[in-house]
Amino acid sequence: MGIRLKAISGGLELLGLIYSIKLLVYRDLADLIASFRSARSTGVSSADFIALYSHVIARKPKFILELGAGQSSAVIALGAKKYGGARRFLAVEESAEWLAHHRETIPPTLMSDMDLVQVNTEATEQYGVRAARYVGLPTLPYELVHIDGPDHDKVGSKISCDIVDLLPHLAPSCLVVFDGRESTARFSRPYLERAGFRLRRHPFTLSHEFVR
Ligand SMILES: C[S@@+](CC[C@H](N)C(=O)[O-])C[C@H]1O[C@@H](n2cnc3c(N)ncnc32)[C@H](O)[C@@H]1O
Repeated sequence: MGIRLKAISGGLELLGLIYSIKLLVYRDLADLIASFRSARSTGVSSADFIALYSHVIARKPKFILELGAGQSSAVIALGAKKYGGARRFLAVEESAEWLAHHRETIPPTLMSDMDLVQVNTEATEQYGVRAARYVGLPTLPYELVHIDGPDHDKVGSKISCDIVDLLPHLAPSCLVVFDGRESTARFSRPYLERAGFRLRRHPFTLSHEFVR
């Protein structure tokens, strides 16, 4: 094995070890992730689940928005239970079919802690480039926004612009997590930076995180 391959495989082993240790500490999260095995939806990676859960229990956000609901919504709600729940956790899904699936797979004890809603999407050229957005998102002082939707390909675009739309309404202390979504993160970055956010790459995930 070449030195580079050895380094990569060593790095992956170390990451695997870190996740196992974290999941030993977060037993409730480990059980929830195990319960996802029979779900049809893809979810995000275990590393992303752990990172999201850690952010929620550390920051205790009162207003949470998730764009692209699913297994990650259950993880966020589980974290929020640790501090008595968010005042409002809005989990947004564009597809009626996937919404029905989420309602079946998210445990009822967590479902009761979120508003899981169906919201249509549209394309806009408002920012000089074709972008997807959810139509009419509630403007609340969100302290955590997890971006894993919408399906921008469906409206013929490569990015989505919801976070830019919502910028004037976000709370002064706020974390925005793009689940991968590199093109959307790159498009949003100048708007976020002008609003006082700074980019922080997470050490164990491919997410782009912006914090202020
Ligand atoms: C990346 S998925 C969101 C996944 C979600 N955050 C989770 O953890 O399960 C973004 C959108 O794609 C759509 N979608 C298409 N195929 C999907 C699949 N296999 N699993 C989940 N969502 C899917 C849904 O409308 C969903 O809101």
